[in-house]
Amino acid sequence: MRAAILTLSDKGARGERIDESGPRLAAWLADKGVQTVQALVIPDDMDTIVETLVEWADADLADLILTTGGTGVSPRDVTPEATQRVVERAIPGIGELMRLKSLEKTPMASLSRAMAGIRGQSLIINLPGSPKAALENLEAVWPVIGHAVEKIRGDESDCGGRFN
Ligand code: MTE
Repeated sequence: MRAAILTLSDKGARGERIDESGPRLAAWLADKGVQTVQALVIPDDMDTIVETLVEWADADLADLILTTGGTGVSPRDVTPEATQRVVERAIPGIGELMRLKSLEKTPMASLSRAMAGIRGQSLIINLPGSPKAALENLEAVWPVIGHAVEKIRGDESDCGGRFN
């Protein structure tokens, strides 16, 4: 599986904050045997996020595109709205699973509006911005990602019984 990581951070893009979440996610993925083929830090700007996600998905850069940051409730948090514009099919259950698992850790999980969906053959998943929250949310949905990627890429085998 190939992954691409898009960090959304105004301060990070201006060089005023070092992006820790992107490298931590890449290291976590490497442990699972997943190669990160692209990683980028851009500002919390709707048009830039949309353009980048469209470019990556339409070039089939990666099977899995993770965003980190901009899922909360601050005025500049627009990642879910940008992702909503980009995806052709939403997968509400991935956001639900992230919040279900994260609420076991902190009630603040309810403030992440992270969503997920499919554009072309890419699975796009929003994660919160802090390294801790990003990793906890990725861990929460990791058990379903491999199967999702297979299905998105056209695996026609029956699911029946395999995951009970
Ligand atoms: N989810 C987990 N698992 N752990 C966390 O610490 N932090 C929350 C939430 N989700 C958190 C979490 C907090 S404090 C916020 S504000 C939201 O994610 C949104 O984060 P973001 O704006 O950085 O995307």
